[in-house]
Amino acid sequence: MSQLKQILAKKIEEHSVRTKRLLKEKADVEIGKVTIGQCIGGARGIRSLVTDVSYLDAEEGIRFRDKTIPETFACLPKVPGSEYPYVEGFWYFLLTGEPPTMEQTKEIVEDWKARSQVPQYVFDVLRAMPRDSHPMAMFSMAILAMQRDSVFANRYREGMKKDQYWDATFEDSSNLLAKLPTIGAYIYRMKFRSDTHIAADPKLDWGGNFAHMMGIDKPYDDVSRMYFILHSDHESGNVSAHTVHLVASALSDPYYALSAGMNGLAGPLHGLANEEVLRWVQKFMDGLGGKAPTEDVIKTALLETLKTGVIPGYGHAVLRKTDPRYMAQREFCQKNLPDYPMFKVVSQIFNVAPKVLIEQGKAKNPWPNVDAQSGVIQWFYGVKEYSFYTVLFGIGRAIGTLANITWDRALGYPIERPKSLTTSMLEEFAEKGRSDKMAND
Ligand code: MLT
Repeated sequence: MSQLKQILAKKIEEHSVRTKRLLKEKADVEIGKVTIGQCIGGARGIRSLVTDVSYLDAEEGIRFRDKTIPETFACLPKVPGSEYPYVEGFWYFLLTGEPPTMEQTKEIVEDWKARSQVPQYVFDVLRAMPRDSHPMAMFSMAILAMQRDSVFANRYREGMKKDQYWDATFEDSSNLLAKLPTIGAYIYRMKFRSDTHIAADPKLDWGGNFAHMMGIDKPYDDVSRMYFILHSDHESGNVSAHTVHLVASALSDPYYALSAGMNGLAGPLHGLANEEVLRWVQKFMDGLGGKAPTEDVIKTALLETLKTGVIPGYGHAVLRKTDPRYMAQREFCQKNLPDYPMFKVVSQIFNVAPKVLIEQGKAKNPWPNVDAQSGVIQWFYGVKEYSFYTVLFGIGRAIGTLANITWDRALGYPIERPKSLTTSMLEEFAEKGRSDKMAND
């Protein structure tokens, strides 16, 4: 058994006691109320999910296992010659809550290499799809195609005991994660690089190999490591994480669950938003005819956009301050591409947009989110095909969501099944307050 699995088994044993106690002794303790606005309004703010993998504070932003983004980067073993950590070590950290040693990290590096061979039938499925299929449809399809190899589904059929569910989920998750960079790079090069492919380099780590298979030189390996870690998890309520959790709660295996989550990520209100940001920035820059814009020019363009819509990349359902994932990418840009005109424009927007949004009373959160910065970096390093950006997000998001469902199965979380009401019932609540009958439902 790997060191990661041994430590995880111990952590699960310890943690289960806490979950069981809460369920047995404190299940009736109330943690909030639910309003009609929340029922109709996308369940916004209803606290009804549990995860210890990450937590999103509205003011501070994301913490992975209680660590901020800078603390997370600092505590993990770095790839030699790189400024960013091994994604493999981050997986260990998300699962166990403890930063791994270099030796523990290298064990996962080797484990993932051993699991990384993508079956030929996956490439056949991708090649059978119309070449103009969206990269996200291809990515989701490739994941789903591999369901036949699910350890969880196969062991479940053979009568696996409940206390083994997490083990089978861990195996599927490791098998999936090991293959995702190859699948992502294959889709990219099949669609956008004349169907020419680059084999994995066994000497490289997961993030480094992705950059290599994409055919992009350093420091794109660090871009990949940074990008995958930053996009990995954003607590459980976002559409992709919640979908993976929900589907897996039916004991659908990780292949079904992750593929479903990727379909949610493909929406313009979720993972596709980074594409919209770049479109906006580039359209704006095209209109300038090569001139650097003043802040007044930017303000006018933002006001014009606000007449018919929103400023792409600004605002967030939970965050009320600048997304620290935006800041982490901004720091990367300041160091590596400080004079790149598109980065300069994005920085100017950062100076102007919050003031404009506050003046206009348009947003509860006038600050930028992760999407406002990520496309610029990809474009700079030559990934100019917008439609691929969400696949990059998806490879990252797989790490957090799979860590979550491994714990879901370990703690025996049941099938998710919230209760519906009808509009008439809401109207009745609105008129009379909570009726006894409904209270008992
Ligand atoms: C995410 O990373 O999932 C997005 O910021 C959306 C969210 O958290 O709701």
